[in-house]
Amino acid sequence: MEISYQLKAADQRRSEQFRPTDDIGFGHLRTEHMFLMDYKDGEWIEPRIVPYGPLTMPPGAMALHYGQSIFEGAKAFKHTDGEIHTFRLNMNAARLNHSAAVVCMPAIDEQMQVEAIHALLDVDRLWFPEQDGACLYIRPFVFATEDHISVRSSKNYTFCILMSPSGAYYKDGNNKAIRLLVSKQYHRAVSGGTGSAKASGNYSASLKAAETAQTYGASQVLYLDSKNEYIEEAGAMNHYHVLKDGTVIIPKFTDTILKSITSRSILELGQQLGCEVRQESIKISDFVEGVKSGDIIEAGGFGTAAVVSPVGSYIFEDNSVITVGDGNVGKYTLAMYTLLTDIQMGRQQGPAGWVNKV
Ligand code: PLP
Ligand code: COI
Repeated sequence: MEISYQLKAADQRRSEQFRPTDDIGFGHLRTEHMFLMDYKDGEWIEPRIVPYGPLTMPPGAMALHYGQSIFEGAKAFKHTDGEIHTFRLNMNAARLNHSAAVVCMPAIDEQMQVEAIHALLDVDRLWFPEQDGACLYIRPFVFATEDHISVRSSKNYTFCILMSPSGAYYKDGNNKAIRLLVSKQYHRAVSGGTGSAKASGNYSASLKAAETAQTYGASQVLYLDSKNEYIEEAGAMNHYHVLKDGTVIIPKFTDTILKSITSRSILELGQQLGCEVRQESIKISDFVEGVKSGDIIEAGGFGTAAVVSPVGSYIFEDNSVITVGDGNVGKYTLAMYTLLTDIQMGRQQGPAGWVNKV
């Protein structure tokens, strides 16, 4: 399908917003254009790149009432030669279709998704932030637009891609270990539910837990399964921990855990990292024991936005605290962060097909 273009005349906004010394934060800024495509009468139609701006939809649009809405998160990086590269977008495209299947939406051709992102990056390439470590965060999303009130899947959808010039997700970047609240009160997902999808409702359901975590001085929640037995996720990241011998352990993917592209990349990079990376079901009681005995020396979270984020301590709902190692960023965490970002930035060669030039 051919993408049509309705482009803005170049203006001054980029240079006004992105002085290299500005702290641009995460997720606030937008580039000048977005990609749109509609689903009507059983097919995806009218792929187009248009100026970024408000969307019109009926107040009865089903996404607004029943949350039939999904999204993805990816990043583009500028290499030292000035060229923009994307990272493993084929995996985002496949996962968007997994999420679509979970909430009864039509799939979108995966090659088309990747081409749409590259076309948008090409149009807005001058919006790339110059800050150290900054990127263009890419947010594809699909939502139900049919004006209808009974609870069933919508007949119409819009697929939109926006981009945000962004820095680190956590304020102190990846240099400072965060604290997680181990919650037995809040759960992110249950077996048979939508936890393996990037469904918008999963994130609205996590807000109360995240706000509670902040009252404990924690940045996010360590989610357990609904029986409070096994570790599932660390906020919007997969969880990991590192044993004394350097083995990295990530919870086994289940239907309550998002299959993180960052986790899957680290799993594939074990050999290059020089350590074993594997998946296991991890009991919270064993994890706590391991941290206390010193068998677990590092922990953290993996995610596109958060990259590799070290966790220095865990607080429980009775206010007790356990500290991992010395509570600071450990050498294995640093090695994973460095290798992954070096591959993304083109400083090191990654596996074939991971990094693609726009
Ligand atoms: N888990 C959840 C719940 C997330 O929202 C994310 C973010 O996308 C992740 C894990 C990490 O996944 P990825 O590495 O693909 O970004
Ligand atoms: C990502 O890591 O890309 C996410 O989607 C997490 C968050 C910003 C919701």
